[in-house]
Parts: sequence; structure tokens; C-alpha cells
Amino acid sequence: MNIIKLRNYREISFEAAKIIRDQVLLKPQSVIGFATGSTPIGTYEELINIFNKDLITFENVKSFNLDEYYGINPMNKNSYNYFMKNNLFNYIDIKEENINIPNGLAEDVEKECEEYERKIHEAGGIDLQLLGIGRNGHIGFNEPCEEFKAHTHLVELKDDTIKANSRFFDSLEDVPTKAISMGVKTIMSARKIILIASGEEKAEIIRETVYGSITPNLPASILQLHDDVTLIVDEESGKYI
Ligand code: PGA
Repeated sequence: MNIIKLRNYREISFEAAKIIRDQVLLKPQSVIGFATGSTPIGTYEELINIFNKDLITFENVKSFNLDEYYGINPMNKNSYNYFMKNNLFNYIDIKEENINIPNGLAEDVEKECEEYERKIHEAGGIDLQLLGIGRNGHIGFNEPCEEFKAHTHLVELKDDTIKANSRFFDSLEDVPTKAISMGVKTIMSARKIILIASGEEKAEIIRETVYGSITPNLPASILQLHDDVTLIVDEESGKYI
């Protein structure tokens, strides 16, 4: 695991955006896996800055998001669909038809998951996957459990995740209890992975991710087995590594 420790959130955002920029410069038709949550917001701001300076184009980029809440309308302001439009896609030149996010309203969830995997495969696989990490060690919505789930699947969210995410909703009851998420194999199949983390509250889980044993009880620990992972942390989240 390549570890980059920087001073603060701004610097990690800049570094992650730079890696994405280089990926798109080197391969303009890259397939990029995007993440949601508070952590990637700064990375997306930097990417928009880079785009506005005419330094890159996303015209030929295809994107696949890690996950989406289940049972949520894509127009809902808490959907990850809305998040991506609002924080990135509306401000760059990526083509609508090249954007892929699991459909949280799919009636046949199993089929939706299979199709998502098929689309990733048909696009040639993910070149670069951006990840955040949950306070419980989840990546995407792969929650701690007894066994890694390989492929895109429907997840029952853990109480701590629902609580952590309730900060974006009017009340705890409004937070969806299920989500569709890429599986661990889907994520591990990406050619290159960047994991970003910021703040004291992520310090312990980052330590366990880097030095702990590989276990489905800490889904991010499996990244130890990937041969091209760059972990970008600020001083607070990286204080134990
Ligand atoms: P956060 O979420 O960036 O809002 O901390 C990360 C995650 O849950 O994957």
C-alpha cells in the first residue's frame, strides 16, 4: 500500500484530484469509479477547478459509482445520484450516457445488480476507483460482516452507518435502511485504487485497515491484497500509521 500523508483536508483533496487528472490525461477514455460522502467533496471541487482551467476533458470518460440507497428517487436530494450531479457531474463535460449509478428504484434488484456488473465488464473494467472509508471500515456500502460479498448486491445498512449518515437527512427515520453496493471483488478488480480519509474520527479505522488482519469484519482491510492502492490521509486520520 502506497501511503501519502499530508497536512490537511485541502491537501488530500488536491492530491486525489491530481491522480484522477493524470489518469484521464494518460487515458482519456478512462473508466472511473466515484464515491460519495463528505470526504470526496474537496476532491471533486479540485477536479472542477482543473476542468475549468481547460486542463482535462471528461468527454470520453465513463463513470461507475460505488453505491446508491435503495428505495430512493434519483431526484431526492439525499440520493447519491443527486449528490454526484450537484458536486461534480453538472460542472464537468462528462456525457450523461456515460454516467452509471445503481438504480435505487429497481424493482428487480438482483437483475439491477447483475446488469451493473455486466456494464462495468463491458466498459473494460474500472481503471481508477476512488474510495472513502466508513467509520466502521466499510468501503462502498460493504458493511462489516462474516463473509466478503463479491459482487454488486443489496445491503442491509448497519445502525452505525444509518446514524452517521443521518446528518444529511431531516431525521434518523428518513435514512434508507438498504443500499445497492458494488461488492468487494468489484472494487478489488479496479486497476488502481485511491482511498482518502480525513479527521481524527478515522484514525483508528485507518490504523486497523493498514496494520490489522484482513477480515470481512473490516471490509477495507482487503485492500492490503491489492497491488495498486494509494492511501491518502491527513495528519489526523493518519496519526497511527
Ligand atoms: P464520509 O463517508 O466521507 O462522509 O466520512 C465515507 C463513507 O462512509 O464511505
